[in-house]
Amino acid sequence: MKKYFAPGRVNLIGEHLDYNGGTVLPVAIHLGVTATVQPLQENVIVLSSATHSFSKRIDLSDEIHFDKANDWANYPLGIIAQLKKENHSLRPCEIIFESNLPEASGLSSSAAVEVVTAFALLAQTEKQINLSWLALFCKQVENDFIGVKCGIMDQYAVALGKRNNALLIDCDKVNHRYIPFETGEYRLLVMNTKKPRSLIHSKYNERKQECEEALKIMRTTKSEIENLCQADMLWLNVLSNEVLKRRARHVISEQLRVNEAVKVLQHNDLSTFGRLMNASHTSLKNDYEVSGVELDTLVESAQQINGCLGARMTGAGFGGCAIAIAHAASVEELVNKVSEKYFSVTGLHCEVYECKVSDGVRAR
Ligand code: GLA
Repeated sequence: MKKYFAPGRVNLIGEHLDYNGGTVLPVAIHLGVTATVQPLQENVIVLSSATHSFSKRIDLSDEIHFDKANDWANYPLGIIAQLKKENHSLRPCEIIFESNLPEASGLSSSAAVEVVTAFALLAQTEKQINLSWLALFCKQVENDFIGVKCGIMDQYAVALGKRNNALLIDCDKVNHRYIPFETGEYRLLVMNTKKPRSLIHSKYNERKQECEEALKIMRTTKSEIENLCQADMLWLNVLSNEVLKRRARHVISEQLRVNEAVKVLQHNDLSTFGRLMNASHTSLKNDYEVSGVELDTLVESAQQINGCLGARMTGAGFGGCAIAIAHAASVEELVNKVSEKYFSVTGLHCEVYECKVSDGVRAR
């Protein structure tokens, strides 16, 4: 019996930049998905989940297709289908999943399941697994088998995260470097809206298209740019459509904030980093319009706590989670005040977790 673990992630800054060719700065967190693998004799893979109470048996000589009825099992099924397609040898086995990562909350639980499944299956047969390749492989499954047109950030962070480091991913060149992220007396908090994210896929694709449109227009006069993150603020005036202008302004300003964040984190200047987080949230709220009353309430009430350096939504938005960096001594007050305010505004109960910045996928 062997055990493997893939973490969830939060993005510290650089939101909605991955599919715009920019740089993003996520961290892997201590919560995630564990896969326990047992060899079997027959030519099958049996998937089951303690957390989801399902069991699925796949004959390895059968073709595998996406089926909505398979629900959560589609993630491991997509990985198995793609491994088969690319002629990786697969050993018959049973995989039991267990997760302590909140789902549908924007903490990349789907990327964690994909990455842990691929890693666990390949670990049965291959000595070396190239983690950048693994991230791209899992992204392709998410794009083609699951049908979600996400960028590379989530799978990459889940695969290559590193303890006490943020991962600066260049999503254009698809490479990365580590930026030390040690919070000392401060804590990284995740605040979960617990709001179902029904509009997420349609709105996500809409933003992607708006960015493509903005880039196309800019390129008619600035043909040298290959993606929106390379554009200059001064070029926004070529966009006469106000909506496109705001979308592009978020992308360009967010890229500048990431560049600044990397500089200040190198000096462990968490105060300035916190201010960049706040500015990022304002831009996501007003220019990119992917926040909402739930995320805004969490973020804005956290920002008012003494000892909170900054807060912002994280991930795609439209519900899901926000993050905050707060002094250890302020955490209790933050949790109480934010929860109270959140309930009074939305009638929902939020959850707040303290997160440890952790390693990416690994054997346990
Ligand atoms: C989701 C996607 C990522 C990224 C973020 C927004 O998490 O899966 O690829 O686009 O939204 O930054």
